[in-house]
This record gives sequence, C-alpha cells and structure tokens, in this order.
Amino acid sequence: MDKRFAWQLAAVCLLTLIAALLIVSLISGVDSTPIALPATATADAAAWHAPDIHSVDTTADGRLILYGRELIIHTATYLGPRGSVLHLTNGMNCQNCHLDAGTRLWGNNYSAVAATYPKFRERSGSTESIYKRINDCMRRSLNGTPLDTASREMLAMKAYILWLGQGTKRGSKIKGAGIKELPYLDRAADPAAGKMVYTDKCQSCHKEDGQGILQPDGRSYQYPPLWGQHSFNAGAGLYRLSRIAGYVKYNMPYGVSSDAPQLSDEEAWDVAAYICSQPRPAMDLSHDWPHLAAKPIDHPFGPYTDTFSERQHKYGPFAPIAAAKARK
Ligand code: HEC
Ligand code: HEC
Repeated sequence: MDKRFAWQLAAVCLLTLIAALLIVSLISGVDSTPIALPATATADAAAWHAPDIHSVDTTADGRLILYGRELIIHTATYLGPRGSVLHLTNGMNCQNCHLDAGTRLWGNNYSAVAATYPKFRERSGSTESIYKRINDCMRRSLNGTPLDTASREMLAMKAYILWLGQGTKRGSKIKGAGIKELPYLDRAADPAAGKMVYTDKCQSCHKEDGQGILQPDGRSYQYPPLWGQHSFNAGAGLYRLSRIAGYVKYNMPYGVSSDAPQLSDEEAWDVAAYICSQPRPAMDLSHDWPHLAAKPIDHPFGPYTDTFSERQHKYGPFAPIAAAKARK
C-alpha cells in the first residue's frame, strides 16, 4: 500500500468514527431528556418550578419521596376500592385534582404547603398539620377514610409534598400556587347554560352521565367522575363554585395551558354550576366552620351570618354577599 493511500484511509476512518460518535451522542441525548414539563410551567420565569424528580436518589428518604409521588398519581391502585394496600378511597386519584403530581401551575399544585403548614384553617377552626390536611382530602375529595398518620403511605405523601416545596420560603407569595380566582359574574351562575358547555366541551371524556371512564383494569379512572357516588363528596373544597370554576377554567378541557384557557369566565362558572347541580355523596358538616362569620361566601350550606339564601350562596350572584360581608 502506498503511503498516501494509507493516510487517506486513516482520515476516512477517523471521520466515520467522529460521525458515528456524533450520532450516538445525539440519540442518547434525546433518550435522557427528562419528561417535558407542562408548557405552563416554563412560560413564566417568576412562577414556581417544581424541583427535578430525577434528582431524588435511592436512599431510604429518596424512596419514600418517590413512593409518595406514586401514591398521589395512582392513589386508587393502592388505596382505592380494589387497592393493593388498603381500601380507603373512592377510586379517584389525588392527581385528578392536583395535576401533574401536584406540580402544575394553577393546577391546584402543592407549592405552598411546605411553607404554610402547620396552618390555622377556619374550616376546622384549628391549626392543622399536613397530615390533617391530607386526611381532609382523603375524607372529602376522595369520599373516604383517613389514613393512619404513622402509616408508610401517609409519611410518603408528606415527604413528597415537603420535598416539592423545599425551595419556597415561609411567608413568601408563590406565583401559580393552588387554584386561580375568577372574577365574580354580575349574575348567578346558570346550570342550564352550563349543561350546553358540558355537552360541547366535557362530555367526550367525562361522559354524558358524568361518571367518567374506568381504565381497562377497572381499578382506576382514565377520565374521573364529576358527580355521583364515585365522585368527591359535598364537603370537598371543589364543591364550592369558586374553586371548581377556577380549576376548570385554567385546566379543562384537559390539556389546555393556563396561559391560553379555552373557556370564557362565564362558561367556566356555568359549567361549574351544572356539575354542582348534580347529586353527590353527602357528609356530616356540622363541625365545619365553627366561627360562622369566616365561612366562605360560596359555601353552599347554611347556617350563615347573613340573610342570603343557600341557593345564592351556591350559585351567586356573589358580589352582593361579598359587599354585605365587607360592611360588617
Ligand atoms: C376532587 C378533587 C381533589 C382530590 C381528588 C384531592 N384533592 Fe387535595 N385539594 C383539593 C382542593 C379543591 C383543595 C383546596 C384548594 C384551594 O382551596 O385552593 C385541596 C387542597 C389540598 C392540600 C392543601 C394545599 C394547600 O396549598 O393548602 C393538600 C396537602 C392536599 N389537597 C392533598 C391531597 C392529597 C394527598 C390527595 C389524595 C390523597 C388529594 N389532595 C386529593 C381537591 C382535591
Ligand atoms: C380530553 C379529555 C377531557 C376533557 C374534554 C375534559 N376533561 Fe376534565 N379531566 C380529564 C382528566 C384526564 C382529568 C384527570 C387529570 C389527571 O388525573 O391527571 C380531569 C379532571 C377533571 C376534574 C377534577 C377531577 C374530578 O373528577 O372531579 C374536573 C372538575 C374536570 N375534569 C372538569 C372538566 C370540565 C368541566 C370539562 C369541560 C369544560 C372537562 N373536564 C373536559 C379529562 C378531560
């Protein structure tokens, strides 16, 4: 072989090797990209960002955090009517209402919990621990039975929620936390108008009868129920019109970004009214709101400290109730 040819061959081999390395690194780069955050979480730099779940290690503490996240995403698989650990809840998942495992901006996320609990809450009239707050959602939102506070499941959910809020400071205002408030309408929300919104924009997933669709394994929902015996009960936060309207406006139909909602405010209030006009499990609320004057104006059950009807407290118009409260 002459010398020049040998050099050319070596150069070609080298170039091929570099090209091959480039391709491999590109492919593995794609593979190791972490699961994309929802569009809403990246849009606003000032808004809260959940820490990266890939940073959690496999120590005992890390495994507890990961189990907590798993329980929040797949609650029914572990704790539902056919759960593998216990049978405590109605078949819904925490994530049905706390979207993306409690990390989605304006998706009822958990960003504020670590920085605000223990916290005084008027509903119970007491200072509540995270355990108490989680069990509140167990009893009301999941229409179930509380978890033992020493159980691995409770400790895991608490560990995950604290881990999520590790970067938030006590007393600081967190942008994108919880549920976004909608301005009040100057009329009562209208269940009949809401039924039309429902047929048009919700029924394809949640079904005409509001019962959602179970996964093929029958253990959890693909599309959760919005009313009826498998839904959240009448003591749940989401049964208050302002809560469900704010949740729906910025998160439904599923997949919308809170930056670009599809529903108008009126549609959100009306469809919320339609959902809340349907039957759901009851709950004994006689011990709630011991300081009556602190009851939210959209709480659908009396007694109240004003003279507005239960119906107006449920559907509005809310502005006159708010004005009367401000005058007190
Ligand atoms: C049917 C919907 C729904 C389900 C299911 C649900 N929650 Fe909630 N949760 C809510 C609502 C509504 C609130 C109150 C939000 C508000 O008023 O801003 C809330 C509040 C909370 C809070 C307090 C948040 C804060 O910032 O103060 C925690 C913690 C919580 N839920 C945990 C859970 C856990 C854990 C589960 C599952 C075991 C669960 N929730 C299931 C609707 C739900
Ligand atoms: C493309 C399917 C789809 C459509 C359309 C849709 N949803 Fe949902 N909805 C979901 C899914 C999926 C969840 C649970 C999200 C999760 O677990 O991550 C959900 C959760 C909810 C929840 C909280 C959980 C519960 O069961 O109470 C409410 C309330 C809700 N949707 C209302 C609505 C309303 C109102 C509309 C119409 C404006 C609507 N949805 C349209 C798929 C949909």
